[in-house]
Amino acid sequence: MRHPVGSFLAECSHLLKAVDEPMAQRFASLLAAAADTEGDPSELASPFPLGLRPDMGAIATARTAAALTGLDAADPHIGWRHPPEEHVPPGWAHSAAAAELLGPDGSITGPDSERFGLFFLNPGVTYPDHWHDADEFYYVLAGSAVWTVDDETTRSSAGSYIRTPSQAVHRIITDDEPVLTVWGWSGDTSFDSYGY
Ligand SMILES: [Fe+2]
Repeated sequence: MRHPVGSFLAECSHLLKAVDEPMAQRFASLLAAAADTEGDPSELASPFPLGLRPDMGAIATARTAAALTGLDAADPHIGWRHPPEEHVPPGWAHSAAAAELLGPDGSITGPDSERFGLFFLNPGVTYPDHWHDADEFYYVLAGSAVWTVDDETTRSSAGSYIRTPSQAVHRIITDDEPVLTVWGWSGDTSFDSYGY
């Protein structure tokens, strides 16, 4: 039987398979393969940061409901953390939480060339302009936020796919809702080039 984290990865694979874009397709295959990885990814578990967890079911859509149910089952096995202070502006880290599910630091160990995880941002927060060498996508599971990638600004909600190419300057702003996404990094996935 699949581990709950594997089952969640399979749900994410299903969502990404419906996105007609090469990086989404590549991660759909990667996650489908990782879903059946042997082993117990529970060791890294740490609970969702106290005070951040909203009722995501209330702001999900039918498209992402199965993934959110899968996330509820996987959550006790996921290593949620606030972003490292050195990667974000002062005082900002406690408004956000992230977890790497697949990758060199993931609950399921993967190659250095890809990372896949979860990201959550509280309401009323600006994740300011930042950039990195890694190619990146976000897929929104619940809530909404405004993404700006280079000069293009879009409001995104459950089911939206956002692509941020290597070195593109991007920011995320929430207003009255939080936002919960999955994300993928590929290419140079070290944090050496991360800037803001
Ligand atoms: Fe990014």
